[in-house]
Amino acid sequence: MNNTLQGQVALVTGGNSGIGRGICLDLAKKGVKVMVAGRNTTKSQETKALIEEAQGFAEVYRLDVTDADNVHNVVQEIYKKYGRIDILVSNAGNTTGPLFTHNTPYEEWDNVLKTHLYGAFNCVKECAEIMQEKKYGRIVITSSLAGIHGLTAQSSYAVAKSGLVGLTYTLAKELGPSGITVNAVQPGFIDTPMTEQQLQMCGEQWKNETPMRRIGQPQDVATAVSFFCSPETEFITGVVMRVDGGFMLNLSVDTLLYKFASGEFGK
Ligand code: NAI
Repeated sequence: MNNTLQGQVALVTGGNSGIGRGICLDLAKKGVKVMVAGRNTTKSQETKALIEEAQGFAEVYRLDVTDADNVHNVVQEIYKKYGRIDILVSNAGNTTGPLFTHNTPYEEWDNVLKTHLYGAFNCVKECAEIMQEKKYGRIVITSSLAGIHGLTAQSSYAVAKSGLVGLTYTLAKELGPSGITVNAVQPGFIDTPMTEQQLQMCGEQWKNETPMRRIGQPQDVATAVSFFCSPETEFITGVVMRVDGGFMLNLSVDTLLYKFASGEFGK
């Protein structure tokens, strides 16, 4: 078996920004032909330019993951051109609010669930068939810590990210016999356009509450995604991996105790 990613074809949704852009770049540097898919093609072209600067290969596709026909057409176009789709990274996502659940308008709730859950469903539905034919595939889904912890004033987001964990586990069982692995990453706070405002407000505090003492970067998530995409990880499926610098382990009491034990307290 060929143990490198060289020449493989990947579809990355939300590849035009933040974490998705980091994933596209990392895969391209490993020799993958990256299909950068998103709604904003101007931003996708920026990702393509960065990839080309790094001597990689990329193409841009306009894709709204909530639109099943659009997803079908894009996947078919890629398949016709390359005869394969080895990797699907279902990463596109959005948030609303902050709004308490009881104040959340139906449209906002609907929009977030559609983007994350129907978005992933639409992409998997189209790509899984192609992967099954080839008896090979790597699917990686971007969940979030919110999917296990909940998130105040972002219930639609937490529900969607939780749902993606259920989808990951189910797909791992269904697609494993066809040589397809399905895993998920759960990023902590990552420095992207999505978190720009929150980072300005609470970045310092999050940094101090993270054992690795920094805010995550898109490359941190990309490293985990590329790991799951490797042909060598064929026995690793149905895994949900936190990429959070240890944030989820930490309680405020730990931060306090660390200060006591290291002599930082009161300085
Ligand atoms: P971002 O806002 O930079 O990127 C999100 C991307 O998804 C954008 O390119 C956006 O255009 C795209 N997108 C949204 N709706 C779409 C649709 N209907 N069709 C196609 N593309 C669509 O944010 P970021 O942070 O890079 O988010 C990427 C993923 O990581 C999301 O799923 C997000 O929920 C998840 N995540 C982010 C965390 C963070 O701290 N930044 C933490 C945990 C998870």
